[in-house]
Amino acid sequence: MRHIMSPLDLSVEELDQLLDLANDIEKNPEKYAHACAGKKLATLFYEPSTRTRLSFEAAMLNLGGSVLGFSSADSSSAAKGESVADTIRVTSCYADICAIRHPKEGAPLVASMASSIPVINAGDGGHQHPTQTLTDLLTIRSLKGRLGDLTIGLCGDLKFGRTVHSLIQALVRYPNVKFILISPEELRLPSYIRDGVLNKQQIPYKEVERLEDALPELDLLYMTRVQKERFFNEEDYVRMKDFYILDKAKLELAKPDMYILHPLPRVNEIAVEVDSDPRAAYFRQAQYGVYVRMALILTLLEVKVC
Ligand code: NCD
Repeated sequence: MRHIMSPLDLSVEELDQLLDLANDIEKNPEKYAHACAGKKLATLFYEPSTRTRLSFEAAMLNLGGSVLGFSSADSSSAAKGESVADTIRVTSCYADICAIRHPKEGAPLVASMASSIPVINAGDGGHQHPTQTLTDLLTIRSLKGRLGDLTIGLCGDLKFGRTVHSLIQALVRYPNVKFILISPEELRLPSYIRDGVLNKQQIPYKEVERLEDALPELDLLYMTRVQKERFFNEEDYVRMKDFYILDKAKLELAKPDMYILHPLPRVNEIAVEVDSDPRAAYFRQAQYGVYVRMALILTLLEVKVC
């Protein structure tokens, strides 16, 4: 039995196979429509979510399975003081696989240790978000045709943005990937990623504050929102929240084939006028999230479709 806590829980070969499977699901959805008949997915969400929870549920329903779960800690026994370990023990009796999102870093790992079903980390605090990374990789590979030889700009809240942490860890495994880290001083990448991943593996990167300085060089721009819920005080959030706003005028500095990704939800960091630009790929990205989660569920449940 396998759990997915970080993108590194899959080898590069396994990841390639998973993305191939996701592409096949995209092309031949009917082939997979009953693959998980009789199986149940539990979604245990202790933190708000739209895309991640609904795309997990859509993924299981598309596979012919069923879903159960809760979408806030208040509506679960966590409100009565139950531990994550006890909740997953019980969930293991009801479901075949589980996706869990929690505000505390490491909570999904604690759950996986007490679980007798595969557990997927659907986001733990400011730490990791591996299934968003799978979504991002599928989007990048589908749009650019490759995962190596790319200069990638990561912009916004690089400190608390868990999607960025997972994405960097996954992308450094491909050849000739360079990063431009675009953030205000206070929201720079945490050292466990900057030193522990980029410096340690001698990955080329630079840190800049102005988006305009980075735009002309980029093959991909990954925008993120400032993570309001992880700030200690409202004042700092208000000061930071509109630090970056990508609009049509700024986009003129970018290459004609520089795709814009965003895990969503968007707040103000991408002006709505950008949505009609052919390079805006964030809504397509959300669709890819369903295919890749279908592929992940099939893989973890060891369901083979011929
Ligand atoms: C992201 C998350 O939850 O970390 N959202 C998502 O799952 N697509 C990004 C965010 O909330 O800013």
